[in-house]
Amino acid sequence: MEQSIESYIKNLVRDTIVHTIGELQVQKDRQTYIIANWKMNKTLAETAEFFQQINSSQDVAVVVCPPTQLLYPAHLFIQQSKKTIGLGGQNVHWAEKGAYTGETSTSMLKDVGCEYVIIGHSERRQYANEDDELVNRKVKQALNDGLTPIVCIGETLGQKNSLQTEHVLSTQLLGALKGIDSSKFIIAYEPVWAIGTGQSATAELAQQTHAYIRTVLKQILGEKADNISILYGGSANESNAAEYSAMPDIDGVLVGGASLNAQSFDGIINVFAKGEQSE
Ligand code: PGA
Repeated sequence: MEQSIESYIKNLVRDTIVHTIGELQVQKDRQTYIIANWKMNKTLAETAEFFQQINSSQDVAVVVCPPTQLLYPAHLFIQQSKKTIGLGGQNVHWAEKGAYTGETSTSMLKDVGCEYVIIGHSERRQYANEDDELVNRKVKQALNDGLTPIVCIGETLGQKNSLQTEHVLSTQLLGALKGIDSSKFIIAYEPVWAIGTGQSATAELAQQTHAYIRTVLKQILGEKADNISILYGGSANESNAAEYSAMPDIDGVLVGGASLNAQSFDGIINVFAKGEQSE
């Protein structure tokens, strides 16, 4: 009897430790990403220069998303540099191929060395009228073809001021992920009011919103949601990166303006890499 109580306690202690380590593991397992979104910027010469100057890191995943016509040269520059840098498109079409003038398919992106693709950026939602249904079709096509979608969501200033942030984000998430049970994607929370404005969200607000996004992801995908990296985007730079990197649910940043300069992008990479080492 004594022995069974003792073994009961031993098992209890062991289970608790395993469970706790398991929880910590989930945190650690999440990949940190520093992703550059160059938008409609840079020449070929500037692209070559950028990949010469930039440093990669073993502690975080660095991904650069140049405009479409610079993807293949960027791929070659990355190969030449021998740096570990991933490549991503800024947009993709939902169809495999066909009569879609001016569009790019997932297989074309893969063919020129891409592993990632940004989908549903708020700028495209605005000027190209991309809605949640279109975003969903693109996410499905990217996943089917083995690309990692970087799915962008975010509320406008008006929606924020009228306290609709959670409603907007959950609607965008449910729409973008409809019919998807894979967790091989990245979410970028990009409040529209923070993009290109210099008015970045405070780290506390971003953390709170990321935690909310994770609860919605859990409703959609269950425990798999713990492994999905959620990045912050919107005037992220070298100066505010440390605050974001200290937050438990901020798994990196999607950087626009500050990614155009190799030194400032490097600075952001270093901040997050240091954060990883001190964990
Ligand atoms: P920003 O852009 O860093 O210039 O605000 C971010 C984005 O739109 O991805």
